[in-house]
Amino acid sequence: MTALSRQLDALLPGLAVESVTEIDSTNSELMRRARAGRLEPVLLLAQRQTAGRGRLGRQWLGEPGASLTFSLGLLLAPPDWSGLSLAAGVAVAEALHPAVRLKWPNDLWVQDRKLGGILIETAAPSEGGPARYTIVGLGLNLAPREGDAYATPPCALRELLPKAAADAVLQQVAPPLLQAVLGFEQFGFAPFQARFEARDALAGRSVRLSDGMVGSAHGVDTRGALLVHTAAGMKAVATAEVSVRPA
Ligand code: BTN
Repeated sequence: MTALSRQLDALLPGLAVESVTEIDSTNSELMRRARAGRLEPVLLLAQRQTAGRGRLGRQWLGEPGASLTFSLGLLLAPPDWSGLSLAAGVAVAEALHPAVRLKWPNDLWVQDRKLGGILIETAAPSEGGPARYTIVGLGLNLAPREGDAYATPPCALRELLPKAAADAVLQQVAPPLLQAVLGFEQFGFAPFQARFEARDALAGRSVRLSDGMVGSAHGVDTRGALLVHTAAGMKAVATAEVSVRPA
């Protein structure tokens, strides 16, 4: 057992750590397994994804060695699911570096440049019950990618931590991430609210949402909804179907 397996097993007995050279998407693979009735806890790491997925149907691109891509899959039955992705983001940001901030709901940002993101998906076991197989996928840029032609290029962790290597970063983030997910299942989002706000990249800024809403961002409520002060008053934006940008 590796040091990482030992640490994760201590938090959730039986959790296996698997590593593959190439796969379409670690989230997709754990979703296929869940649909086939394989609901055991696992962390699946891929050196390369050929069809990595992001939120809102976007692609996640990452080259071997230049990014860290993994998914954590486990059965969860929290009384309230709201805010899980924010809690996961808090754990990863805190584990990485003080300069890493969170752009609601769970983008990891450094000085308004995207460092990484989290994609959470769930599947209901066929036997029913309140628990869902929950897949928490994390993608992190470690090194700048050749040929990125964005107006604002993504951030790479090596800008903050020049020696950052995938295995060491995995060891740094996976245990706090698992701990946060298990803590969320028991206590919900409320214990993460202040921690999110300490890293909130949008706080006090003018924002524009993809549904047309404009206003200024005022942190999150106890369930992780984004609070936006608009001309029509304070609105709580709970749906992850919208995206938000500084205006
Ligand atoms: C986002 O920023 O929209 C979320 C990106 C999540 C990417 C990770 S990489 C590992 C896991 N497998 C996927 O296909 N997606 C997530």
